Order: sequence, then C-alpha cells, then structure tokens
Amino acid sequence: MNFTLSSKAIASQKADCIVVAVPENGDWPASTLAVDAALGGLLRQLNESGDITGKNGSCLLVPVAGQPWPRVLAVGTGADKERTPTNFRKALIAAVGQFKDGAAGHVMIALADTPTTGDEQAQSEAARLNLIGRTLEDQLYTFNAYKSGKPPVRKLRKVTVAASGASKPLKSAFELGLATGRGMNFTRDLGNTPPNVCHPSWLAEQAEQLAQEHELIKTEILDEKQMKKLGMNTLLAVAAGSTQPARLIIMEYRGGNAKDKPHVLVGKGITFDTGGISLKPGEGMDEMKYDMGGSASVFGAMQVLAETKPKINVVGVIAAAENMPDGGAARPGDIVTSMSGQTVEILNTDAEGRLVLCDALTYVKRFDPAVVIDLATLTGACIIALGNHATGLLSNDDDLANELLASGERACDRAWRLPLWDEYQSQLDSNFADMQNIGGRPAGTITAACFLSRFTKEYRWAHLDIAGTAWHSGKAKGSSGRPVPLLIDYLMSHASK
Ligand code: BES
Ligand code: MN
Ligand code: ZN
Repeated sequence: MNFTLSSKAIASQKADCIVVAVPENGDWPASTLAVDAALGGLLRQLNESGDITGKNGSCLLVPVAGQPWPRVLAVGTGADKERTPTNFRKALIAAVGQFKDGAAGHVMIALADTPTTGDEQAQSEAARLNLIGRTLEDQLYTFNAYKSGKPPVRKLRKVTVAASGASKPLKSAFELGLATGRGMNFTRDLGNTPPNVCHPSWLAEQAEQLAQEHELIKTEILDEKQMKKLGMNTLLAVAAGSTQPARLIIMEYRGGNAKDKPHVLVGKGITFDTGGISLKPGEGMDEMKYDMGGSASVFGAMQVLAETKPKINVVGVIAAAENMPDGGAARPGDIVTSMSGQTVEILNTDAEGRLVLCDALTYVKRFDPAVVIDLATLTGACIIALGNHATGLLSNDDDLANELLASGERACDRAWRLPLWDEYQSQLDSNFADMQNIGGRPAGTITAACFLSRFTKEYRWAHLDIAGTAWHSGKAKGSSGRPVPLLIDYLMSHASK
C-alpha cells in the first residue's frame, strides 16, 4: 500500500474516490467547499435533502460524472463542540471502512482541514494528519498467516492525503502516524500468533530480529540460569510448570544523548496463562494467548522508535514465561524470595503477572531510569471496572500520571486513573511472608498495583493495566495494538528537538 501526502489543490487531482468532511453545523472545510463547487452544489443539495446529515461517522458514497474522480465519499464529522480526537478518529474509521474493500484503487482523503477540539497540540493539523496516518495503517490490518487459502486481494493500492502544505512538521506528523499504525500492527501480529508458536524463546527471537533490522536497537536475552543467579525467583516460579523456559528480554533504543536517563518500558509477557495449579475455567481460555499483550506493545513501541528515530533513550524489558500446571509448578502456599529480597507467599498461581513483573521492576533499577512504565494484562477486575474502553492507570507520581492521561486523550487511546492509597496495602498482608500475591475480591486492580508498588519505590513509576484494552473479544476477536499510540505520544513528547 502506498500512502502519500499532497498539498496540491484537491478538486483537480485524479483519483478513484475523493473523501471529504461534512460537519453537522458551522462552516464547511475548504476542501469540501472546493469539491462541492466542482459539483455545482450537489453536496449542499444532498445535505439539505437529509441524505448527508453530517452526523459524526455517517457516510454517503456518491457516484459523480465529469470529474477527475468518479466517486465522492462524504463523511460526517459531527457538531463543532464534539470534534474531539476520539470522535475524529471514529469518523476516519467509518470512512476507511467504506472504501477499504471497495472498487477504488486510488483514494484521496481531504479530512485534515476539519477543526478538532482539545489541547493546543490536539487541535493542530499535524495532530489530524498523525491520526489519519495511523488509522489508515491500523484499519487496513489483516492477519492471515495461519489460513491455508489465498487471502483476498484488495483493489485499494494508493491513498493520497491532502494537507495545507508540505512543511516538515506536517510531513513528519503524518509519517509518525503511519509508523504508529505499523507499530500497532506489529503488536497485533505478536498477540494474534498462537501460543504453540509464541513461546518466551520465540519472543526473544523477535527481539533479536528487530535488533538485526534496526541499527539503533540492541538486545540482550537472559536465560533461566542467568535469572537464577540474579535471584529472580518469583519470575522463575511462574515458569516452573512449563516445558518452555522463561526469558528476560532487554531491548535498548539509544537515540538520545548518552547522558539522558532512559524511559523504561516493562512488559508482562505471559505467552499463555492457564492459571497454573489455580487452573482457570476452560471457557474462553484461548484468549489467554494475549497475556503477553503488554510485552507486545513494548515491541510495537520499539519498532516505531527505530523507524522514526527520535532523540530519546528508551529501554524495553520483557518478562516472558508460560504459566502452566505440572509436577514442577508452583503451588498455592509456596513462599519464594524475589530479586528485591522481599518474600512472597503465592496464594493463587493465577496471579502470576505481578510475580514476573516484580522481578523485572527490580532488575530495571540498573538503568537509572527517568521513569518506568509497566504494561500488563494484569487483572480481570480492570475489565469489570473500566470495560474495554480505558486502560487502568496507577502511579506513584502525579505528573507522570497526568502526562499519560493527556497522551491517551490525544492519541485516542485513553487511560483512566485509579488510586494507589496506602489503605489498600494491608489486603496483601501475609501470615507467613512479607506479602501474599493476592488481595481478595475488593479492588483487584488496585491491590495488584499495590503489590507492584512495593518494588518501584526508587523511581517514578506508572502501571498500565491493559486487560480490557489490549484485545477484542467476540466476533472481531484479536489483538488491538493498544496502548502503542499512548506510549508513542508520551515518548515523543519527551524527545529532544
Ligand atoms: N491474565 C490474567 C488477567 C486477565 C483476565 C486478563 C481476563 C484479561 C482477561 C491474570 O493473570 C489473572 O489471572 N488475574 C487474576 C488475579 C486474581 C487471581 C487475583 C484475575 O484477574 O482473576
Ligand atoms: Mn493469571
Ligand atoms: Zn495473566
């Protein structure tokens, strides 16, 4: 697929379909006016007759004669006040849905001159071009690697996106959007890969391949022997019931100055979560192949960095293990000593994410991090609390939390903060060890984060619980690519110019 930016007058360009925005009220954007003028007022007529409503995400495909483009797709962009980045993206998704499997080979998109609301950055044309680039890539995603038949071939081969100029900021915003979409798609490929292929050592190979393809990425893989030596016993306890050995995967992107402290991303990489001896019920267990979604988003973010080369240092660390029940598996009641020296009573082997993460969070102290952000499909309780729309955010630093919330808003990849108050900590009291690995039914997402907070005292830290957002269930079952956009917005805002 070919995606390009163009600042030429759109109404005279040749294409198989031209996409324009029709708002529900207020002024029409210049490109819509130009197309309407070329059509002698046809769009205005259709608007007055009620065929084009302007409702956000509503679409009307109109065949036209005597123009360099035989079709116009009018996309509703809603009322002035509701033009948030999220609604703009909804309109884009609806538009791409209309043409992606249609007859047009070359589509011209003129939507970037529609105003958006939000903070100053969100309101810019650059922000809209970023969203258009990302949405094009991520809405055209398919995953056919394991279908034996030939995948259907699309007619669509080229998309031109209209912009007000060809300046560097506009171009790089569009390129960053495309790269973000590709990063999401990489994350989705990893997440969708079946658990009999995607093992911890397979994930390690993906990291080595990424490092091979990109000069700015270096990788190091620790095996179980090396982790044992470091005292990573809680991580190893999770892997003990599996024939697949655990891996600690370290990827370093060094695009900034040598003295810039790195931003560290830590991903939960449970390649399959049966629950272990505390076995999960069978129904829907296949979805636990996505329990490496946090690590997949670290891979996606790393790829975006490697492709766009911002001036920043980022370290990605993935705690990869498979949670299986067998004779060697950890039992409820086992007590293990974590790398930090704190002892943990494992009361439920299905609360394994925090066990692999706590050792990884101790390990990353060696990087003297600017901040540490961990990403994990950590608790079913997060889906109960926030559903599938918002990622759960917990942090020991208000500034970091607020920045991540703003990034989520701009990137249409929202998070919502939950408290980490001391009052919740006592739910982790154990009669026999320094702590137990579960906190009972109340506030399951918070007590999971409380557990992690005991290992993150020495740096600024945020935890993103992506149990509800990393994948879709039901008919559209599959990995979502979240929260790569949030991460990239955040990291880019910390890159030096
Ligand atoms: N990977 C699961 C969390 C999860 C559940 C993610 C459903 C997505 C969908 C995690 O390892 C887990 O099993 N958590 C337990 C914790 C409990 C035992 C304290 C849970 O949420 O039930
Ligand atoms: Mn589990
Ligand atoms: Zn899990």
